[in-house]
Amino acid sequence: MSKPNQNILVMAIDGPSGTGKGTIASRVASHLGWHTLDSGALYRAFAHVAAENDISPNDALGLEELIRTIDIAFIQTNAGLKISADGKDVTDCVRSEIGGKRASIFAKNPLVRQGLLERQRRMRIAPGLVADGRDMGTVVFPDAFLKIFLDASASIRAQRRYNQLKEKGFSGTLRGLEKEIAERDAQDRNRSASPLIPASDAIVLDTSGKGIVEVLNEVVALIEERLLEERFSAD
Ligand code: DC
Repeated sequence: MSKPNQNILVMAIDGPSGTGKGTIASRVASHLGWHTLDSGALYRAFAHVAAENDISPNDALGLEELIRTIDIAFIQTNAGLKISADGKDVTDCVRSEIGGKRASIFAKNPLVRQGLLERQRRMRIAPGLVADGRDMGTVVFPDAFLKIFLDASASIRAQRRYNQLKEKGFSGTLRGLEKEIAERDAQDRNRSASPLIPASDAIVLDTSGKGIVEVLNEVVALIEERLLEERFSAD
């Protein structure tokens, strides 16, 4: 197995759902011309295929077999990132609310986390990687040159998610969504394996009341400052 190249810079963006981290990660990556890793999509695709194959979140043998054989690919298209699992386009089912809930349940199992670790580290490809998720700065890329933890109040995150879903014809209620987000947050924060927590060297940005452009400007300023420091320390 090829060793990940530690010289390739990684930027980690972690945080709970609804903080805009996926949007920030892809815009930052296109600003820098770097690759992206949407680790949530990896967990979502894995959980989707496990459920399709009737593998339960605690079935160690079934999960180990799936980790060995599953083929998950991310394909950049004009319409956005497509997720393919074992040759099938699973983008829509994986991106659903059920997809997120299922991913969070499977993600509690340390076997699954360990099994997906190497796949994530293999995405560290030149010229650089912007990785978003829950444990990018704490576990997957602890040597990231910049770690941002995006946060926002639970009600604001639920409202943002509700607005996004409404555009896609979502028929649920804001209250229902708030409850689901709170449950998923608690599950992600309280699990024993790689819980959602800012790395000790992460910069925590509260995005409540801020638009995406404002957050993006703050993040880009932090990157530029950190890249300058990297350049000077290399001289
Ligand atoms: O970022 P997302 O909403 O697509 O993630 C879906 C779920 O996957 C999230 O609730 C928990 C899990 N996940 C994780 O445990 N670790 C990651 N690095 C990314 C996602």
